[in-house]
Amino acid sequence: MKARRAHKIRQVRGGESLEGRLLIIDNASELLTLKGNNGRPRKGEGMKDLGSVQNGAVVIEDGRISKAGPKEEVLSDVDVEGAFVVDASGKLVMPGFVDPHTHLVFAGSRERELSWKIEGASYKDIAERGGGIVSTMKATREASHKYLFQLGIQRLDVMLRHGTTSLEIKSGYGLRTKDEIKILEVIKSLSEEHRTDISPTFLGAHAVPPEFKGNTDAYVDKVMKEMLPIVADEELADFCDVFCEKGYFDEDQSRRILDEGRTYGLIPKVHADELSDMRGAELAAEIGAISADHLEKSSDAGIGRMADRNVIGVLLPGTSFSTNLEYPNAKHIMDLGLPVALATDFNPNCWTKSMQFIVSLACYKMGMFPSEAIVASTINAAHAIGKASEVGSMETGKLGDVIVLNIENHEQIPYRFGFNHVETVIKAGEIVHG
Ligand code: NIG
Ligand code: FE
Repeated sequence: MKARRAHKIRQVRGGESLEGRLLIIDNASELLTLKGNNGRPRKGEGMKDLGSVQNGAVVIEDGRISKAGPKEEVLSDVDVEGAFVVDASGKLVMPGFVDPHTHLVFAGSRERELSWKIEGASYKDIAERGGGIVSTMKATREASHKYLFQLGIQRLDVMLRHGTTSLEIKSGYGLRTKDEIKILEVIKSLSEEHRTDISPTFLGAHAVPPEFKGNTDAYVDKVMKEMLPIVADEELADFCDVFCEKGYFDEDQSRRILDEGRTYGLIPKVHADELSDMRGAELAAEIGAISADHLEKSSDAGIGRMADRNVIGVLLPGTSFSTNLEYPNAKHIMDLGLPVALATDFNPNCWTKSMQFIVSLACYKMGMFPSEAIVASTINAAHAIGKASEVGSMETGKLGDVIVLNIENHEQIPYRFGFNHVETVIKAGEIVHG
């Protein structure tokens, strides 16, 4: 994890400095610690383990979790005098959400595609009618670093107010060297300026740009030989991702890019089997990807191989919602032994910034229990971006990323859907909202 720099908070009220003071969150009607499992992602029955405590308290010292658990245990030997106390009576307290799959840096907006979808157009039809990734590419190529940065700050502020304290952001709307680098540099600036912890991913292989139409292999070469060396040289990404899909990049092309990325130290991720079974799950297992995301059309064999290789399955119900796709069968995928995470997939085709909405969809549409959906949005999501030693649960020494929600228990997150329950956001021990 990068060293924390002097972060500014834009447009988010609060940011009260608690330098040298203990921060205590007291009297939580339910506290979700997400503790346990020896640092491994949760799967099977373990996905229901929230480490839930009634009447809980959390102590944060120097930005990090010092203790979290039942109030009487946690506060027994703490000097409350001089501490800053947040009273969470009647409220739910949990780790900040981790959103492990977003495309947050893009220009333009594609609301006109909604009417096309209502008329029955598929994702592919929309791309053929001039919408989709390539239309966002055009707007993003035209946008300056400064403009994309300003949009990024506003989006991160909204996410933070909805409880997301760590997230991943992919490039992928430049699709030529200078603009892919521009997007990654915007992500870097955002990570220096904003309180949210950001994991950057290079997704040069998000689509074949019009200049390379009919010549995907030549574009793959460009990604491998021209873009990847710069991304690595300038240390602009932790992960390398590929949209492995018909009409985008096939299994072999995806493998070549991800293998090459690995030689530069970039950890592989895969957009796998969203619209068709491309053997993306198998590929993710074979190359030891940290996660394979989407999985709507993956085979049981592919999911089984992912489970054997400890690849996290990142499910994106917001995409199924906004694209009129079948939802992945999360229950079945969990039964096959895969550790599951959830993400917004925030992008111009799926415009949500709220992990709370994703938790609702996961429960109402994918057969996940509220406890499973919350595990998937916190500790397992942290595993999907390699940050589980720092965030995702309230273990001693981890970052003090804690949110207070104006509801009494965790089941009310999905049950009362469509609005923001988050009242207070604490990032690395600092109150950044509320
Ligand atoms: O993860 N599926 C590929 N990429 C995005 C959608 C990108 C877009 O439509 O702009 C996704 O859903
Ligand atoms: Fe995506």
